[in-house]
Amino acid sequence: RPARFTLDPAFTVAEVNPRLFGSFVEHLGRCVYTGIYEPGHPAADADGLRTDVLELVRELGVTAIRYPGGNFVSGYKWEDSVGPVDQRPRRLDLAWRSTETNRFGLSEYIAFLKKIGPQAEPMMAVNLGTRGVAEALELQEYANHPSGTALSDLRVEHGDKDPFGIRLWCLGNEMDGPWQTGHKTAEEYGRLAAETARAMRQIDPGLELVACGSSGQSMETFAEWEATVLKETYDLVDYISLHAYYEPLDGDVDSFLASAVDMESFIENVVATCDHIGARLKSKKKINLSFDEWNVWYLSKTDAEVSALDWPEAPRLLEDNYSVTDAVVFGSLLIALLRHADRVTVACLAQLVNVIAPIMTEPGGPAWRQTTFFPFAQASRYGRGEVLDVRVDSPTYETKKYGEADLLHATAVRAEDGTVTVFAVNRDRTEALPLEVALNGLDLTRVVEHSALADADPDARNTLTDPERVVPHPVAGTEVRDGRLTAVLEPLSWNVIRLA
Ligand code: AHR
Repeated sequence: RPARFTLDPAFTVAEVNPRLFGSFVEHLGRCVYTGIYEPGHPAADADGLRTDVLELVRELGVTAIRYPGGNFVSGYKWEDSVGPVDQRPRRLDLAWRSTETNRFGLSEYIAFLKKIGPQAEPMMAVNLGTRGVAEALELQEYANHPSGTALSDLRVEHGDKDPFGIRLWCLGNEMDGPWQTGHKTAEEYGRLAAETARAMRQIDPGLELVACGSSGQSMETFAEWEATVLKETYDLVDYISLHAYYEPLDGDVDSFLASAVDMESFIENVVATCDHIGARLKSKKKINLSFDEWNVWYLSKTDAEVSALDWPEAPRLLEDNYSVTDAVVFGSLLIALLRHADRVTVACLAQLVNVIAPIMTEPGGPAWRQTTFFPFAQASRYGRGEVLDVRVDSPTYETKKYGEADLLHATAVRAEDGTVTVFAVNRDRTEALPLEVALNGLDLTRVVEHSALADADPDARNTLTDPERVVPHPVAGTEVRDGRLTAVLEPLSWNVIRLA
């Protein structure tokens, strides 16, 4: 039987915040060095930024870019990363058993964002692992104060006359994780985050601050962590963070395809926890969600990869090569975020280049798009406007991890001009899925485009030697007639159906 849903402009979720299409640049592996930054590369500009990568970043449509970590930030000394490049120290990066040269730092990050264009916004993390309130304030003064103080004048002396104007700040990273340098209990972190937030707001009450939530829903401390941290920080922060990565374990592809079931329940559980604390505090304020790390990541391989390292510079790390199946799961994760656009108002795809990334590069060589590039670029381009409330009536399938799951996962976004884009995933690995959508009260008469990412080989990937093996293709036969959209979703596919 077909999968069905109804679209009606009277039933909406929320306006999509452009920050939902954020990403993440960490000093990890080759994300920075030989990723976005490679002086001497034939495509490098005068600042050493790879213009081929910049072009792909623009095409991807990313907005807020979180920096400089990740686990890296918990040992980060911001002052190492500013001033004359030849005087910057080399440091041990404990998170990734690598040597950090600091040739790329704060000023280079801001220059990178400017070159992407006005849509790119900084999202800076402070180190609350090995450091605390004082260093966060110093970084804030260096970055944001116009001039006339020691640290703001130092920035000017370093060549950056204009302040960086960083509005969005993360108070540490994954402080609930025992792997984190300076890992803390929820009570310890909650106090430190509150003190840091209060002090940073003394300089600038207008900042937007993200407190660390859990590194995943499966963490033992999940939910209690959020509740404890929010009790300390509720009035002082704007967001709580969520991180989630998915991979097929023990060959269980069917559960992997339903990963968004976990992501949606994670979001809903964090919303419930935030609102519970808000209710206890009798607060009118709502805490929003910053899903500032999400992706498909073959994480189970990573520990061995990292522990084998002997402090190299920019090693090849976490360079997952994504298949069509991975891209379909990835698309479904994007759908999950859009479906919760009322509370998820920041999200960062981890990461941007080379490290679990949609863009890959070869040192001295080309840059190319992974399979996951396409769902992100299409969602960022067409997923702007108001999310319509989509309640699917779908055939289901059985999964080991999540029980019965819908074969269809979908959302729809209505743009300001009234056009609507449906994003839909068919999780069925072998059968096509007919789709029927009732278009109530929407003046839609034609299909502008139905694009799908699917392949006879679900394991197909783009590689250095075959960089365009997988690209989206047009789908014929999709129609709007008498206020009803009909389409057929190919087996294991990500679909973008644009209606006008
Ligand atoms: O994105 C890779 C790593 O995943 C980040 O450094 C960390 O925050 C998370 O565990």
